[in-house]
Amino acid sequence: MLEKAVEFVKDKMCDFKPQVGIILGSGLGELADEYSKFSIDYKDIPGFEASTVAGHKGKLVFAEINGKNVVMMQGRFHFYEGHSIQKVVFPIKVMKKLGVETLIITNAAGGVNASFNPSDLMVITDHINFMGQNPLVGKNDDSMGTRFPDMSEVYTPEYVELVKKTGKEVGIDLQEGVYMALTGPSYETPSEVRMARTLGADAVGMSTVPEAMVASWAGMKVIGISCICNSAAGVSTVGLSHEEVIKAANKAKDKFKILVKEVIKKL
Ligand code: HPA
Repeated sequence: MLEKAVEFVKDKMCDFKPQVGIILGSGLGELADEYSKFSIDYKDIPGFEASTVAGHKGKLVFAEINGKNVVMMQGRFHFYEGHSIQKVVFPIKVMKKLGVETLIITNAAGGVNASFNPSDLMVITDHINFMGQNPLVGKNDDSMGTRFPDMSEVYTPEYVELVKKTGKEVGIDLQEGVYMALTGPSYETPSEVRMARTLGADAVGMSTVPEAMVASWAGMKVIGISCICNSAAGVSTVGLSHEEVIKAANKAKDKFKILVKEVIKKL
């Protein structure tokens, strides 16, 4: 299936060669609309499926941004949609085979760190996989990565520094911290958020970790950026809703776009 998907996409790309991959999280898909050169609907790609989440489209979008050839996922596959963890990471393997060297993963997340505010952007320095799933379980494809991959630097340290430096240069205040992934789709209870904080998390969310693990395994450089869309349960006294998350992402999307574009320029 992977070979089929790669062949299908390569055929549509003609001589376009993507160097950078971006996964656009909830409410952050505008970058793709703005720069799109051409796109392919997920439903047409072997092994992909249509996206089911509000705020997520289902397209691979190809573009040139600041001199770099980029392939963007406008919409991703979430484990909570009922997809297998293999399905969630399938597009990352496709990107690797297309020649993508650097993957920028973005998401909407809940702020666990009490000093974070809604619409803050957080550079991910590390993650905690609390999904109870590891996308690398199963037969190992030795052509892509090793059986027992090192996960000590999933988020490429020099790129964490690059993102922070870029934020300073363009006047965007950035938070940094550890992202914990849970399966969702329910938001956390206040006790679970307390647990996340105790275990060292600064933000919680329902994505990113499987994709980052596979990208790291496959030798890609990884950048993770969370849009802190709400204070996670118990940090704030109000209840959570997906609408609130999308609203905060919308508020952050302009600075998010500026940051990502500037980072791409420097890769
Ligand atoms: N928890 C988990 N995922 C999220 C949240 C949250 O509070 N906000 C946005 N995605």
